Amino acid sequence: MTRELNIIGLLGMGLILVTLGFAAMRENDRREAVALEQREEAVVMATTLYAENCVICHGSQGEGIAANPPLNSEGVREMDETTLYNTIARGRYGTIMAAFSAEEGGIFTSQQIEALMVLIQYGSWGYVAEVVDAMGLTPPEMVTIDVSEEVLTSISALPDGDALGAGLTLYADHCVACHGANLEGTAIAPALTPATRNYLDMTRIINEGVTGTLMASWDKTFTDEEVNTLITFITRWQEIQFAGIELPTIEVPTIDMSPAAIAEGQRLYSLLCTQCHGTQGYGTPLAPALNNQVFLADTPNAAIQQIIAGGVSGTAMPAWAGYLSEANIAAITAFIRSWEPNAPPIVTP
Ligand code: HEC
Ligand code: HEC
Ligand code: HEC
Repeated sequence: MTRELNIIGLLGMGLILVTLGFAAMRENDRREAVALEQREEAVVMATTLYAENCVICHGSQGEGIAANPPLNSEGVREMDETTLYNTIARGRYGTIMAAFSAEEGGIFTSQQIEALMVLIQYGSWGYVAEVVDAMGLTPPEMVTIDVSEEVLTSISALPDGDALGAGLTLYADHCVACHGANLEGTAIAPALTPATRNYLDMTRIINEGVTGTLMASWDKTFTDEEVNTLITFITRWQEIQFAGIELPTIEVPTIDMSPAAIAEGQRLYSLLCTQCHGTQGYGTPLAPALNNQVFLADTPNAAIQQIIAGGVSGTAMPAWAGYLSEANIAAITAFIRSWEPNAPPIVTP
């Protein structure tokens, strides 16, 4: 009798345990579902923050633009959480990666920073790119040149030509926008040839950048070997020239100069630029004149677009790419260009 009771008791106990087990499983599922939902909410919120504040440097796919590192890499996804948090909250000292936490003078709460971390760790960059595009905030593409197989073959036929070719490939993807397809320089950056710097100086400048100028630090983008390859290319550039090998020219996208585009540019300019550059573009004590022959004749549209998008680091000139679309920037450029026929030769603000 007692034995039977015991067995029934045991059975009952077993039943309770099984039921509890199921309940616990359901509770886990529920928690997971809640966590997933919270994660999704965080990603949605963070995507807007990302579009408005990070896309200009880290790209709409997290691919990293110019010298700014990618965020879509395994390394960043798996970075320990404290380091990731601190990077966004406090920035990286001595680089253009700014501190974003309100406590550090930035604009984000810790909840917003945590949402950005969730985006980086679990988000889908395809989704981010779609949202950024829908918001009209896709940054303008960097100007690059495509080096053909033919050119690379001719270069590799030169003495130690493979190193030259490798350098050219890196240069074409990362440096032509500012230093020109033939290292001749542009309105926004000096010529690199003939090389006026020794090897050590060039290594330092490429790795560390020049603060207060558009020359960024590239040490996160390139290995030491790649920097060496670039310097080899710069110092041996004349060998390519002497061999008569022609490089493609930079195709500058033409901008729409229609009255509608110029009017849109004028609207944006009055909204965003007059406070520093003056209503007529004659400059103010805060910023130089844009409406003058010297500036307009020397500065191609692509350079103007690049300056507006990227700003001039270390000066009051902001980077607008996170706020303005490529079309907006082209429209402003059209408006500035429309001054050229009547611009005074030189203006001192
Ligand atoms: C003006 C350009 C710029 C903007 C805007 C910017 N970053 Fe950065 N970011 C950088 C640079 C440059 C670095 C590399 C700093 C260094 O050398 O350590 C960096 C590094 C990082 C890293 C570390 C990557 C690594 O490999 O160590 C993270 C994470 C990051 N940024 C997130 C963000 C987020 C999130 C935003 C927007 C809230 C943002 N950044 C906005 C330029 C920028
Ligand atoms: C966004 C524009 C920009 C890009 C892109 C850029 N540079 Fe520069 N670079 C500059 C500017 C501006 C200077 C001049 C800095 C100064 O005033 O000292 C400069 C200076 C230099 C110098 C020193 C030249 C001298 O004689 O003083 C070297 C070398 C150089 N850049 C190499 C490179 C290489 C290699 C790349 C590609 C990996 C590159 N730059 C990409 C803007 C750029
Ligand atoms: C807060 C002040 C400020 C605002 C706002 C501002 N700029 Fe600037 N801008 C500057 C400063 C300062 C410079 C000079 C940077 C330097 O020393 O190279 C500059 C330089 C430029 C240059 C290069 C001029 C040259 O001679 O090399 C262009 C082009 C330009 N700004 C366009 C714009 C446009 C377009 C807007 C509006 C979308 C704008 N800026 C808004 C402060 C500002």
